Amino acid sequence: MRVSILGCGHVGLVTGACLADIGHEVTCTDNDAAKMGILAQGRLPIYEPGLGSVVDRNLRAQRLSFTSDAGEAVRFGDVIFICVGTPPLPNGEADLAAMDATAKLIVTEARTPKLVIEKSTVPAQTGQRLKQALATYARHSISKFSFRVASNPEFLREGTAVFDFLHPERIVIGVEEEAAEIQLRKIYLPILEQRFSCPLHESTCPETPAPVLLVTDINSSELIKHACNTFLALKISYANLLADICEKTSANVDQVIEAMGLDSRIGPGFLRPGLGFGGFCLPKDIQAFTHVGERAGVDVALLHAIEGINRRRVKCLMQKLHQALWVVKHKSVAVLGLSFKPDTDDIRLAPALELIRQILDAGGDVKAFDPQAMEKAKVELPTITYCESAYQAAQETEALIVATEWEEFQHLDWALIRQTMSRPLILDGRNFLQADAMRALGFEYYGVGRPLEEPTREAIA
Ligand code: UDX
Repeated sequence: MRVSILGCGHVGLVTGACLADIGHEVTCTDNDAAKMGILAQGRLPIYEPGLGSVVDRNLRAQRLSFTSDAGEAVRFGDVIFICVGTPPLPNGEADLAAMDATAKLIVTEARTPKLVIEKSTVPAQTGQRLKQALATYARHSISKFSFRVASNPEFLREGTAVFDFLHPERIVIGVEEEAAEIQLRKIYLPILEQRFSCPLHESTCPETPAPVLLVTDINSSELIKHACNTFLALKISYANLLADICEKTSANVDQVIEAMGLDSRIGPGFLRPGLGFGGFCLPKDIQAFTHVGERAGVDVALLHAIEGINRRRVKCLMQKLHQALWVVKHKSVAVLGLSFKPDTDDIRLAPALELIRQILDAGGDVKAFDPQAMEKAKVELPTITYCESAYQAAQETEALIVATEWEEFQHLDWALIRQTMSRPLILDGRNFLQADAMRALGFEYYGVGRPLEEPTREAIA
């Protein structure tokens, strides 16, 4: 099928490249000229494992193309995926200006009827407004074509987005006509039947159950995305609430959560306490969903609580740092990890950056290392020291904080790090390291909700 992608951010790029990879003809456009320039050179504006090779092989196969001519992109596809940004407005509501501009563009440029599919994360009832906008703009333009609207939310995680697109647990579509359902089923058929040559797994893909196709109405489909992301955030904030209680009751959050996760009604996923959730999705989706709830006159205290717990995570870790160092001013602190999570260079709403700001506010000096995100972090935090390696970051520091759980930090020579630090003090903001192993190496080790060693309990009390 001929597919147009409007918006080449994380969602648009992964969607476009993967749809081309399963056999569709795809043209992508974005109104960010710089991004289009990078793409035109065959490079990617984002770090996303596996995406580069998918884009390359489909550019070579001429199944995928990028154009700065938005009109050309609109005219190309029988279906159009809207993948534009819906960032939060100052009051937290989703900003739908780009959606509206896209509706205008489609009406102006289309020369044939189109199925317009929302892939961006939008509040419930946006599809209805989009339909009205398309009809209104069409009424006042030379275009006499009809546009059908559907919703198809994405559940892609940064760092595993290509896998998530090709091996999803479910595909959700919100439609109003059978024709739209048929078209979307056809688009996703290779994925629904897991019948495609996978760019990630040369020979055999992991045994994953065939994805479920969930067909519903547009409002429900839109709300499913907010509901899922907010529930994931709820699990994380609940784990952090538990961690705080464990610390005050000398219980072990790891074991508490292990026991919870063994209950299939709860499940082990997304129960890792730490510095809290960041990134461009969970925080903004909670805010947007809160607005949907408030406008509907529903009591959304639970959503406020999720956000409130998350907002205090960095402060909790700062309190531990103050406790351990007594005075932070003029002390050198190593921070390992800057991205909001591992396997991405994305620093948007990254807890690590907020942590560094608070250390700087307390007069401390920061030496930081991240495998991928330092270039982007330098724009936000130009005054700190960026290091070539975790070892360089740890040298002559009085505390080391694990802020993002990059796999490679597990495999560092911690005995060597112990020797180079002025004080062997670790604050593990992601419960990523083995507490006992660190203590056996002679580190003072503090996790999140993990038991303290007898000797340090008095120091903290
Ligand atoms: C999220 C959703 O997972 C995805 O389905 C949706 O499409 C987009 O938003 P993403 O933002 O890439 O994906 O990150 P995710 O893996 O969900 O992690 C979000 C944040 O939660 C990260 O900061 C991560 O460090 C944190 N997190 C995650 C925890 O603190 N504890 C956990 O147990 C899991």
